[in-house]
Amino acid sequence: MSGDFEGMLGLAREALARAHAPYSRFRVGACVRAMSGRLYAGCNVENASYPVGQCAEASAIGAMVTGGDRVIAEVVLVTERAEPCSPCGRCRQQLSEFAAADTPIHLCGPEGLRQTVTLGQLLPLSFSADTLPIRGDT
Ligand code: THU
Repeated sequence: MSGDFEGMLGLAREALARAHAPYSRFRVGACVRAMSGRLYAGCNVENASYPVGQCAEASAIGAMVTGGDRVIAEVVLVTERAEPCSPCGRCRQQLSEFAAADTPIHLCGPEGLRQTVTLGQLLPLSFSADTLPIRGDT
């Protein structure tokens, strides 16, 4: 684990508190640490048209790319319910665009760290740019 886990969890919790989740009432906060060391947080942003909603991981990734970073070193995901929550399938694929199979993903609750998994555990045999004839670098 990085030395910045507590900082990441703090930012993820702040993001969770700002989640827009009036439909599911399931607030999620995420924080990604880029290889540069910068931290980017995000929350879930739901919509009255339910499928339009955005996950917390996607918000954090969007902030990271907007901030000029492209490589994820570590991820913190926090929820406030008793049930464990790991990234949904779409988020796993979105994380895989910028993270490696051995990138740690820390799953947290109100009490703190619950479990650490790697992206490779969550998304084995992933589809990536390596499969495409032309690699997109922009
Ligand atoms: N959600 C996330 O933000 N990340 C996940 O990985 C799982 C689900 C959000 C989406 C929706 O706003 C709420 O949790 C309930 O599905």
